[in-house]
Amino acid sequence: MEQKLLDAMKKAYGHDGSNVRLFFAPGRVNLIGEHIDYNGGYVFPCSLSIGTYMAVKRRTDNVVNMTSLNFPDEGTIQFSLDELVYKKEDDWANYPKGVIKEFVNLGKTSDQGFDAVFFGNIPNGAGLSSSASVELVTAVMWNEVNGFDLPMVEMVKIGQRAENDFIGVSCGIMDQFAIGMGRENKAILLDCNTLDYAYSPIELGDYALVIANTNKRRGLADSKYNERRSECDEALASIQKKKDVAFLCDLTSAEFEEVKDAISNPVAQQRAKHAVAENERTKKAAELLGEGDLLGFGQLMNASHVSLRDDYAVSGKELDALVEAAWKEESVIGARMTGAGFGGCTVNLIHKEGLNETIERIGSDYENHTGLKAEFYIAEVGPGAKEITSVKEGER
Ligand code: GLA
Repeated sequence: MEQKLLDAMKKAYGHDGSNVRLFFAPGRVNLIGEHIDYNGGYVFPCSLSIGTYMAVKRRTDNVVNMTSLNFPDEGTIQFSLDELVYKKEDDWANYPKGVIKEFVNLGKTSDQGFDAVFFGNIPNGAGLSSSASVELVTAVMWNEVNGFDLPMVEMVKIGQRAENDFIGVSCGIMDQFAIGMGRENKAILLDCNTLDYAYSPIELGDYALVIANTNKRRGLADSKYNERRSECDEALASIQKKKDVAFLCDLTSAEFEEVKDAISNPVAQQRAKHAVAENERTKKAAELLGEGDLLGFGQLMNASHVSLRDDYAVSGKELDALVEAAWKEESVIGARMTGAGFGGCTVNLIHKEGLNETIERIGSDYENHTGLKAEFYIAEVGPGAKEITSVKEGER
């Protein structure tokens, strides 16, 4: 990987490899706890070994040049540190640009730009957070090269704010947190209200964690995402007339039953029902995983999918077909959509015995129903965002 990036730096900018620094940020998969990070709930994601690499060499002027090996047709995108504004034509580079802008908003400025090459091996639009991965790799890089010394949690918040304010997607904090704070072979149980968190070892025994990509791009996901957020806000505002709560996920299911009639819009009521139940499922699921009760964990994954499909309405034909194909298999003990939904990936717990055959059957059942070919990856849970190499002058 290092050589590939150094070669690309040479090709794009003529660099000889001296003083080039390399950074990495993973993608993430959420095991359970979907669409509740922005409702003050618990989520249970983990960082993946796939992610985004960034090679950087500082410049003496204030120009920033960015090239992505994933978007070769876009060529090199250039901007100045004096002009950190969203530009449609800057396309993917708005993500790193937004991150640098958020540093400036915190008073963390620099007048020295850089040349950079990005390369990501997360499938784009698959709901494995390729955008948050780009945000965090940029945040860690900018923090390191300028010696700003911000803690990782601050960079996580910078990434989220870049997405909210610069890109215009009102995402919660789960993706950036999982990517910044991830640990090898650990899931993170995160309270999105307080940002208290705990690592849980992922011990799956005879089972494998399999990510399946519907290969249906997430299309209209961003506008639907913002729509779900406002439906939850509406439900919360209605409940607050009856009960003093700060977030939907402050309610237990029993409390929700008592106050739900305050929500006159039936759609908003359904959305709130999902949020409350999903939060309870997530806490329980983390507990069961800790006790080694994988069957119980898998059942909660299944219930999460049903709730996202029926009450939250963020699944879709393809995600449902892929989950249902998995549910038909005896060796699958849990399957659900993961991430924002409307396309992207499912996450599955599958017995290792006959794993390839199981995957093949799921794939062909899915293809029969949708005409699409799914892709499957055995998830490897790797570390969070970091600098991976520092190639100093004279070393090459
Ligand atoms: C996207 C958002 C996250 C979270 C998930 C759904 O990935 O970026 O903040 O809301 O959707 O759980």
